[in-house]
Amino acid sequence: MKMKWAVEIAGTGAYVPERVVTNEDFTKRLDTSDEWIVQRTGIRERRIVAPGEGTLALSVNASRQALAEAGLQPEEIDLIVIATATPEHPLPSTACELQAALGCGWIPSFDIAAACAGYVYAMVSAAQFLDCGMATKALILGAETLTSITDMEDRGTAILFGDAAGAAILQPTDDPNKGILAARLGADGARAKAVWVPGGGSAEPASIKTVNERLHYMKMKGRAIYKFAVNMMHSLVRDTAEDAGVSLDDLAYVIPHQSNLRIIESAVSRLGIPMDKVAINIDRYGNTSAASVALAFHEARETGRIKSGDLVMFVAFGAGLTWGSALLRI
Ligand code: ACO
Repeated sequence: MKMKWAVEIAGTGAYVPERVVTNEDFTKRLDTSDEWIVQRTGIRERRIVAPGEGTLALSVNASRQALAEAGLQPEEIDLIVIATATPEHPLPSTACELQAALGCGWIPSFDIAAACAGYVYAMVSAAQFLDCGMATKALILGAETLTSITDMEDRGTAILFGDAAGAAILQPTDDPNKGILAARLGADGARAKAVWVPGGGSAEPASIKTVNERLHYMKMKGRAIYKFAVNMMHSLVRDTAEDAGVSLDDLAYVIPHQSNLRIIESAVSRLGIPMDKVAINIDRYGNTSAASVALAFHEARETGRIKSGDLVMFVAFGAGLTWGSALLRI
């Protein structure tokens, strides 16, 4: 299997809604506590969209920032890939709507449905287009309005999720040191119902019944995913570093999917990676699914936490069940 793609990051951007919802906001109406949420998940607050604001608006803001940082005009972009489980509309793709909103040309534009692993899927997919010459400037996003499929009456999931978007522009590079050195993508469809939305799809189209039975909201077997996530995060980081022939000590930064602080801590401690080399923003944003890694990547670049030449490991998992990792020398 090919294990190196000569691509580099031209710019990144991110956007979160203005409205902050704290743990205390939940304790007023659900049987939960700030202590439980912080201890079990690491989450202190999350952002939630305003009425009328959705995945497209988040994507437009994040994309404009990435374009500005890259010094590019929208018409210079020749591929858009958005990882999202919460598109602006069921049809068409949010990528098509983003293309028009940004003023890009009639370029290939599509969404990827790989839940929380989606941004890594998008990055690796865009790298193939760049590598074979079908694109030269790829805009990729992880963008979610996860609260649109979250049951705010269910304490088991309501407290976990938030809304956000992160964007990056990838382009080919001649620099032999830069690129995706190794990547792994996978899925286990036998566990599709570990995290799923039962209603509103073709199996059970939206109806008064699906709404009354709250079938349009996400259902999750949290404990089962917890064990899978710790094991998968651990083995993906270890195996992807091995694929690239680098040691874990060589990693400058690990950007894991932000689903639970305890999952991240367990996985990286088994790998012997110190927490100061690990991106954490779950305390401020909760689990933003495909946006989480994208947002953390932008934050790391913006704060100077990662710099040119660094080895950065992306690792994510989610509904599907899906998983993905990418080792990027930036
Ligand atoms: N406040 C207080 N108590 C709660 C809450 C809450 N918000 N939520 C659940 N509880 C209770 C449960 O009812 C249970 O009570 P019981 O013992 O009386 O039955 C108790 O807390 C323990 O519940 P568990 O589910 O075993 O708690 P756990 O420690 O596993 O934490 C959590 C739950 C946070 C969901 C954890 O399992 C987790 O993070 N799982 C992974 C989730 C994940 O990574 N999802 C990724 C996919 S998301 C996507 O793809 C969009």
